[in-house]
Amino acid sequence: MNFYRPALGLIVAGLMQGVLGQPIARVLIYTATRAFRHDSIPTAVNALLQQSKTLNVVFDHTEDQNQFNDANLAKYDAIMFVSTTGEVLDDAGKAAFQKYLNLGGNFVGIHSCSDSLVNTTFYGQEVGAYFDYHPELQNATVDVLVDHPSTQGLPKEWHIQEEMYNFKSDPRSIGAVVVLAANESSYVDNGTRKFNQGTPHPSAWYQEHGAGVENGNPAGRSFYTSLGHLNETWQDVLFISHVTGGLNWALQANTTLAFNAHAKVGNSPSSPPSTGPSPSLPLHSGDSSGAIETAPQIALVAAASTLLNIIL
Ligand SMILES: *[C@@H]1O[C@H](CO)[C@@H](O)[C@H](O)[C@H]1NC(C)=O
Ligand SMILES: *[C@@H]1O[C@H](CO)[C@@H](O)[C@H](O)[C@H]1NC(C)=O
Ligand SMILES: *[C@@H]1O[C@H](CO)[C@@H](O)[C@H](O)[C@H]1NC(C)=O
Ligand SMILES: *[C@@H]1O[C@H](CO)[C@@H](O)[C@H](O)[C@H]1NC(C)=O
Ligand SMILES: *[C@@H]1O[C@H](CO)[C@@H](O)[C@H](O)[C@H]1NC(C)=O
Ligand SMILES: *[C@@H]1O[C@H](CO)[C@@H](O)[C@H](O)[C@H]1NC(C)=O
Repeated sequence: MNFYRPALGLIVAGLMQGVLGQPIARVLIYTATRAFRHDSIPTAVNALLQQSKTLNVVFDHTEDQNQFNDANLAKYDAIMFVSTTGEVLDDAGKAAFQKYLNLGGNFVGIHSCSDSLVNTTFYGQEVGAYFDYHPELQNATVDVLVDHPSTQGLPKEWHIQEEMYNFKSDPRSIGAVVVLAANESSYVDNGTRKFNQGTPHPSAWYQEHGAGVENGNPAGRSFYTSLGHLNETWQDVLFISHVTGGLNWALQANTTLAFNAHAKVGNSPSSPPSTGPSPSLPLHSGDSSGAIETAPQIALVAAASTLLNIIL
């Protein structure tokens, strides 16, 4: 069965595999596209789901913009935009997302999500910079600039096959810290840049206080990487360590309920997540997660595998 059925607006269930008693964060993976669609999206979602146990994170996956409402987003410790393109939220969804960020929610953006919602200022700032263009897919080197959870597993000079992105602004101009830089002598870019990219050329970065927040509100964290084009990339343990390091770091903002009982959004560790009825969705992770969470570890893994088999 083809597990990837965007037309159904499905949620692929998050797997409640966390160690009992420890905080379990809940993360929404959003992969809607309104322009170019990466065929690596199912590989990406699958790769993230496989990290559920290691990360102690329950993942939900959706392409339904209606999931961007206050009540639903309030369940999440982070929202991930993975290879989204184009105008993937309506005005109501944008308002809910802004509110989520204002309440301390965390953000993780991957690859072409910087080419989404191109006129939505708060979103662009939460990502850090908008995509401009990329030279053709080729081998290149990115250099680790900063010791950070997203770079700890990487070689200092990391050889990758990737679309080397150019951006419309320098994320450092809004306070981002660049963790990976493109080695511009390691690949060919025949394009004409409107903007010199800053020095060195950013490829991945983090924001301690995501700049998408509105003034006066406590910000969560934001992490963005421009890498992630190919299936092969999502099958590369180095790339997975980069993304999961960034996600883990974002969650450690402690601005959400999984890590801070006084937070306003996120998954409360003391009460299993209740996702409420969602009749339009064929698969629903929340219905089973509460039961699984209280089951013994072995039964839990077995149940999770069964769930995966049903989904996949
Ligand atoms: C990438 O993987 C997806 C399924 O996981 C597949 O449909 C697609 O054809 C793959 N792309 C390439 C270029 O092999
Ligand atoms: C964004 O704004 C530009 C300039 O006003 C406009 O040409 C473009 O159509 C807008 N795009 C979207 C998706 O709203
Ligand atoms: C790109 O790098 C891979 C190994 O990472 C190698 O197998 C491949 O031949 C390289 N391609 C080119 C065009 O150099
Ligand atoms: C950048 O790439 C060039 C060409 O591959 C290489 O000679 C150089 O050592 C690289 N520099 C760094 C800092 O990685
Ligand atoms: C860059 O332009 C040269 C000359 O037109 C061409 O041979 C080469 O394939 C181009 N490379 C890329 C990566 O676009
Ligand atoms: C979040 O909490 C952890 C564990 O108590 C702590 O190590 C970390 O410094 C905290 N992070 C922030 C940003 O305060």
